[in-house]
Order: sequence, then structure tokens, then C-alpha cells
Amino acid sequence: MCGIIGYVGTQRALPVIMEGLKRMEYRGYDSAGVSIMDPVGFFTLKRAGKLAVLEGALEGHSHAGTIGIGHIRWATHGAPTDINAHPHYSCRGDLHLVHNGIIENYRELRDELTALGHTFVSETDTEVLAHLIEQELQPGVPLETATERGLKKVVGAYGLALISAREPEKIIAARLGSPLVLGVVPDGSLIVASDVAAIIAHTRDVVYLQDREMAVLTPKGYAIRTLDAQEVSRPLERVEWDIGSAEKGGHAHFMLKEILEQPDTLNATLLGRIISGEGLVKMGGLETIADRVRNIDRLIIVACGSARHAGMVGEYLIEEYADIPVEVELASEFRYRRFPAGGKTAVLAISQSGETADTLAALHEAKRRGLLTLGLVNVAGSSIARETDAGMYNHVGPEIAVASTKAFTSQLALLVLLAVYLGRQRRLSHALSEELLHGLSQLPLQMGKVMQQAEGIIALAQKYRHAERWLYLGRKYQYPVALEGALKLKEISYCHAEGFAAGEMKHGPIALVDAATPTVVLAPRDSVYEKTISNIEEVRARGGAIIAIANDEETVQRSLVDHAIIVPRTLEALSPLLTVVPLQLFAYGFAVARGLDVDKPRNLAKSVTVE
Ligand code: F6R
Repeated sequence: MCGIIGYVGTQRALPVIMEGLKRMEYRGYDSAGVSIMDPVGFFTLKRAGKLAVLEGALEGHSHAGTIGIGHIRWATHGAPTDINAHPHYSCRGDLHLVHNGIIENYRELRDELTALGHTFVSETDTEVLAHLIEQELQPGVPLETATERGLKKVVGAYGLALISAREPEKIIAARLGSPLVLGVVPDGSLIVASDVAAIIAHTRDVVYLQDREMAVLTPKGYAIRTLDAQEVSRPLERVEWDIGSAEKGGHAHFMLKEILEQPDTLNATLLGRIISGEGLVKMGGLETIADRVRNIDRLIIVACGSARHAGMVGEYLIEEYADIPVEVELASEFRYRRFPAGGKTAVLAISQSGETADTLAALHEAKRRGLLTLGLVNVAGSSIARETDAGMYNHVGPEIAVASTKAFTSQLALLVLLAVYLGRQRRLSHALSEELLHGLSQLPLQMGKVMQQAEGIIALAQKYRHAERWLYLGRKYQYPVALEGALKLKEISYCHAEGFAAGEMKHGPIALVDAATPTVVLAPRDSVYEKTISNIEEVRARGGAIIAIANDEETVQRSLVDHAIIVPRTLEALSPLLTVVPLQLFAYGFAVARGLDVDKPRNLAKSVTVE
């Protein structure tokens, strides 16, 4: 989820590109770079760190070139360093390229290209693109043809922009699975970017590229074609957003943007990890320690907040499908506890930021004890990512709203993959893993169906805006979802919301039920469905309003709930990925109705780097 930009026209390219990068800063990133081309050659500068570091390094440079590309990076393959920052170059240095996305087969491509004499300088997947296209750029072959031929060998996702001294007036841009938008500036200049926010200071007239399309930009105009050289003609669209809302994808808040983009972020998490037909999972990050992982006989998951709730779903998943005993520990408790653990115990730290102080300290304790440590992290190069023996990245891009949403569902998806990975190393059958992986691959589409109800869910939450106390109930896989739903509501609305295992109600919490305390019940058609229906009846008998998250109308009629939100049915083990989405939307709508700053709730920080 990096940001890319390219400019060609009559103005100096460098200021336009730097301004565009600044507009994409909201995404969060860890390095940045630019390449400007003129008849003499390239001017390139790349720096790890904030954009300000690159800006500082650019001081005193007033390059006059009118064509160039720029990039802000959110590291996935290779740490955030100057060398790994984009643009990346071909061996001859005459082709520079920026890329957003992941090249899944980059190892194979790198080996092939190395055998052909190419030399790689970075640890990134992106660099293969520059060499791949260079390899095709034989004398007489136009730049677009070489790009087209190179891209046909790529498995993965890309939005890219490249410039080459071979055809110094051209930018080639292409996309597959990563957004790209082309802006037509009134003076005839053209800007291509991954994000409309990078463009609208200059123009509101844009064309969105579709997958497998390529745009050729020159000072004289642009042409769009498919990767099979079919011409594409598409009318310009007018962007009506202002700059502030463009950053939020046209939404009022980052939290809403991040909730709604979950079908895409889920796809990004799954990309390249399911080996369909074989019932297998590819976990690139675990390859180096596959044998140690095979021997794990106990797993301790350490995490805080939402990440811990994801870990609790992981506990059910890994015990059910991999038959490994799992405990989930609050990192803040685990770090101070005496825990007996044998040599085959592994510790898995789950953390969006990779910087949470308690999770990091728990990890240090596990390392001190000589245990195998694994990480499930969104921010590449973060402390937890660096300090664990091996791990998995979420690949969902920066999460800006304080309340975690897209990282949470991605954590759930990675835990399903991990359960299958560990299971297949043990006794999980091909048929069962195929069923899970097939179900997983359907989820982005099913999640899209939940998103279609977003407005209705937000409106429902508004009706309840005066409620001060909330209960959330769920059983089995839905218990952690109940905890997560309650956490979402309380952290952004400042109302008291508590999640319980539904079976615990009779042991105390049911005393809280009264007419002023609505209860949200997670009631999908799972193996504990009938028990959950009984719990709904217990609450209803005591006069509290009930909102159910269900799979069908029959549930609604049977349980006589006040309101129901219907989500598509999936396998029980996958259902948290769908049932949590209405709870995120509900919490969002509720807090907005109470006039609160949902993106930056009081007293909270995105990354809790102190104890
Ligand atoms: C809740 C939330 C927090 C985090 C927790 C751990 O919406 O965002 O509960 O989940 O602070 O943060 P990470 O995942 O960065 O370790």
C-alpha cells in the first residue's frame, strides 16, 4: 500500500511530485524517493524515514526536468532503507520504476534474471520489475511493448509508473490489483498516481485505470490500452472531493474508509498465500524455520486489545485444525508471569503496529527463555517484526484511525492461514483444508455484501445514540467477536460496553440487563446456534432491547429481536470475519451520532509504545 506518482508536462516535475507525495503522507510510510529525467540523464534521490528527510536532502536541488516519478513506501519486502526505497533501476540505470503492490513470484524471476546476468542491489520484490522490463527492452522494441511483455511474466499485484532514457518523453503506467488514476491538468500536463489525493491540487479531471491496462503519457497527451495492446477509450470523470476528503477516499473519517476497504485489504492479505487445489498455504515468512514450526507442541499467543481478540479466535482455530494446544495471554500480564514452558513451545506476538511496549516485552521474555518466537505484524521493519525469529505480514497498508478495523480482520485471516499451515504439517486432511481455504477466498465478496448495508447499520446506530450502557454476547468463535464489538464501541463513544461469553450470563452479567441497556447478540448459524437463541430469550424476558447479527430471517422471527443485521453465511471458523464488520460500522455510526472524533478518540494513541 505504497503511494506512487508520475508527472510529465511543461512544469518542473520535482515540485509537483514532492507535493503529490506530501498529499499521500496521510497513508503513513517509512521511506520516499524521486527520479527526474532530462536530456542529460536522471536525477534520483531516495531516503529512509519521513518525507521531511527526503525534503531536507533535496534542499538546494532545483532540478529543471519536466518528467519524473516519485514514491512513498510502506515496506513489505525488505527493510525501510535508502537502498530499498523506490525508484528502482535497471542494470544499465536507464530505466527507473516505482511500484505499489506485491510481486508474488519475485524470487523465481530474480533467479531467472540473475542467471541472465542481471545484478540486484535491493531486497525488494519491486526491483525485479525494472530488470524484467530491461530484459525485454531489446533494440527496436518500444518501451510499452517491453513493459507489456515483462508484466505478462508477473504473478501478483502492481500499480507502477516507469520512465526510461530510451524514450525520454514517456511515462508508462500499468495496473493489476493496485489503484492508478490519471489526472489531466488544464495546461496539458499529465499526472498519474495511486491516490486521487496526489492529483486534485492540479486537476479534478481524471481517468481511473482498470486491471491489466497500461497508460502511455507524453507531453502531447495520453493513450490507454490493455496489456494485449487493445486500445481503450474512457471518458474523463470529475472528482468532486476536496483535498481533506480525498485522503479519506471521499469518506468523512479514516475509520469508515478503513472499514469499507476491508474486502480489498482481505484480498491483499490472502494474495499469493492460498495454493488452490492443493489445500496448502504458502507462508513465505515461515519458510526458513519450517522444521522448527513442524515440531511446535504448544503455542502461546501474546497481544493487547483488538490483537488479543484476534488471538482468541486464533486459539479456537489452531486447536481445532492443527491440534496444537494454544493459550492467549494479555502481553501486559504475561511479561510479569512465571510460565513453565518446554523447548517446543512457540510464542506468537500479534501486533498491528509492531511497536506495542507490552507485546514487545512479552516477546523479549520469550526470547530470554530460548523459545521460538513468531510475529503477526502489519508494519514491516517494526520492532516486533525485527525481533521475532520469523513471521507473517498483514499487507493491509497503514491503519490511520486509532480503532483497529482492517488490521483486525486481516489478523483473523492470517490466523486461519496459520491454522491450515500448521494443520497440514500435522493431520489436517486435504478435504478440510480445501474447504476452509475455499471459504476464505469467498470472504472478500461476502464482506462486500455486508458493506452494502453500511448506511442502514449506521442509521440504526443513530437510533440508539442515547444508550449509555451496552452488552455484547457471543459463544465459541463469536465470543472474541463480542469482546471486540464492545471494545470498538467503548473506545470511540466513551460509553460502557462489555462483551461476555453468552454462557456466562447466568453467572452474573444478566443482572445488568434492563430496559436502558441494549444487548448485541452474535447469532450466526454455527454449532452453538440453539444455545445462543436461548440466551436471546433470557435477555428478552428481562426487557432489554436486542440487536442480533444473524445469517437469516428465520433467526430474526424465532428470537423476536428488536433489530437484526443479516450477514452471509460461511463456515463457523470463518464467521468472525463477517460478523465483526456490522459491529465496526455500528460503533462508528454510534460515535458519529454522539458528535465524537472517531478517528482520534480521547486518551488513546495508535501505537502504545509505553507500558
Ligand atoms: C483497539 C485497538 C487497540 C490495539 C492495541 C494493540 O481498536 O486498536 O486495542 O489493538 O493497542 O495494538 P497493536 O496491534 O499495534 O499491538
